[in-house]
Amino acid sequence: MGNQLIVQYPDPRLREHCKPVTRFDSSLGNLIDDLASTLYSTTGIGLSAPQIGQLQQLFVMDLSDNQSDLQVYINPVITQKAGLAIVEEACLSLPGVAANVMRASTVSVQAKDRHGNIRETKLSGMHAVCIQHETDHLHGKLFIDRISAIRRLRLRKTLKSLESNTDVPLNSSTYTQF
Ligand code: NI
Repeated sequence: MGNQLIVQYPDPRLREHCKPVTRFDSSLGNLIDDLASTLYSTTGIGLSAPQIGQLQQLFVMDLSDNQSDLQVYINPVITQKAGLAIVEEACLSLPGVAANVMRASTVSVQAKDRHGNIRETKLSGMHAVCIQHETDHLHGKLFIDRISAIRRLRLRKTLKSLESNTDVPLNSSTYTQF
């Protein structure tokens, strides 16, 4: 309990389809608390359950600068997308890798809260980008899957280092990590 290790690429757990949450009980509450405290131990703005090794459909995000706006999304489904946002993304599970990703700039998302109540939220800007990045995690998708082949080629060396478990120099927090 408490801060968890963050699962790192190329761990196969990052490629799994996560299971929907069906029990809204105290163990779910503990998982949410673990996700939040692990997120708050990083410079990231979002963290999904598979990133701490729990293959369940939920993530947390907080875009405030003082950890005052924790949002929990359980079994999220993006129901609408509009517009275009290009943001340089990085991922807590891929240290040292960053790339511009094309996303929708506005999304509607249907999700449950920690009590199992369903709600629909419309979000834009960085909130919308974060929702899309984290929802991808729940389906085994990483942001490097959404960049062009040429961009991926440029990242090849860094990805290879991660794959062979060599330390990658960390120049974190110049970009947004999810
Ligand atoms: Ni990520």
